[in-house]
Amino acid sequence: EKGGWSSFMAKEISEQPDAVTNTLRGRIHDGQAVVPELEAFGDDVLAGISRIVIVACGTAAYAGQTAKYAIEKWAKVPVDVELSHEFRYRDPVLTADTLVISISQSGETMDTLMAVKYAREAGAKAISICNTQGATIPRESDAVIYTHAGPEVAVASTKGFTGQIAALYLFALHLARVRNTLSLEELAEQVLELQAIPEKIATTLLQEDAVRQLAVWMTDSRAVLFLGRHVGFPIALEGALKLKELAYIHAEGFAAGELKHGPIALIEPGQPVFVVVPSPRGSAHLHPKVVSNIQEIRARGARIIAIAEQGDAAVLPFADTVFHIPLAGPLFEPLLAVVPLQMFAIELATAKGLDVDQPRNLAKSVTVE
Ligand code: F6R
Repeated sequence: EKGGWSSFMAKEISEQPDAVTNTLRGRIHDGQAVVPELEAFGDDVLAGISRIVIVACGTAAYAGQTAKYAIEKWAKVPVDVELSHEFRYRDPVLTADTLVISISQSGETMDTLMAVKYAREAGAKAISICNTQGATIPRESDAVIYTHAGPEVAVASTKGFTGQIAALYLFALHLARVRNTLSLEELAEQVLELQAIPEKIATTLLQEDAVRQLAVWMTDSRAVLFLGRHVGFPIALEGALKLKELAYIHAEGFAAGELKHGPIALIEPGQPVFVVVPSPRGSAHLHPKVVSNIQEIRARGARIIAIAEQGDAAVLPFADTVFHIPLAGPLFEPLLAVVPLQMFAIELATAKGLDVDQPRNLAKSVTVE
């Protein structure tokens, strides 16, 4: 039931603090991430993994791309993120010490299911990140970490996505503990960051009116660009996907470092560009690079909508609009930065009079190829 909400999607966006809280529940003990579902493997198996391959489609693949940064940083295991339908139609190299992680909100996406089957037949172990109890993909996996985001009814995934990142981060911290790649103190710090996320999402959600104003102003936009760097890159891709799906606007996400390699040619006066800005504290080496990207495109007439950390004064002179996110560790910013982008997509679709829960041509679960 929608309750008092205008759409299931609006309700699900607002439920994200609870979605993340519920995904964390029962998986943190004495300040450490301990995922009981991983016991099926035994620590020796997790310690012996030489590589992780993540398979997923759409928004779930962006959750995977985000988690790659965290898994590699914390657990020091190389991670490849593959679209399920690309993975299974080539000859991917899989060994017994490869761990395949599938991510699927529905647990029914045909391509992801087939990728998991392929991987297991090739001898790899498979873990599934899934939001739907008893779905097919978890049944075909060696272990499952359920996201407890609650049922997602709107076609476009929102709380499913933040739940997936939370579950993947728990996995990454569990893995780092088992593999001894971080000290218990360092691990505990990251766990605290994760536990602080629900409240910070709640704060981020308060900017709804400002997002709506921007959306109304942008109703006639024909193309929107999204830039991000590091973990902001998959968020740029997700922001663009949400806008395509919901508002039927041509939207593209780019890694900010790619600008000079082509995309900057797209910038003309008035072109709206959302920029996910890394924290000036947590990502002191990347922040100035993204600010200089903003200056470059602004000089060519782009209208800048920045998603930036509260108190980030460096972006203010160059941004036409700023949405603020609370301070968080660099790897945790995606869980906050995605929220204004989700809200923008829904507000723009609403301003255009579109059905946000059932966008044209899309189905909630893609059980055919
Ligand atoms: C985007 C969206 C899709 C799904 C994709 C995978 O808003 O909903 O891109 O993320 O179809 O679906 P699941 O996670 O059910 O495998």
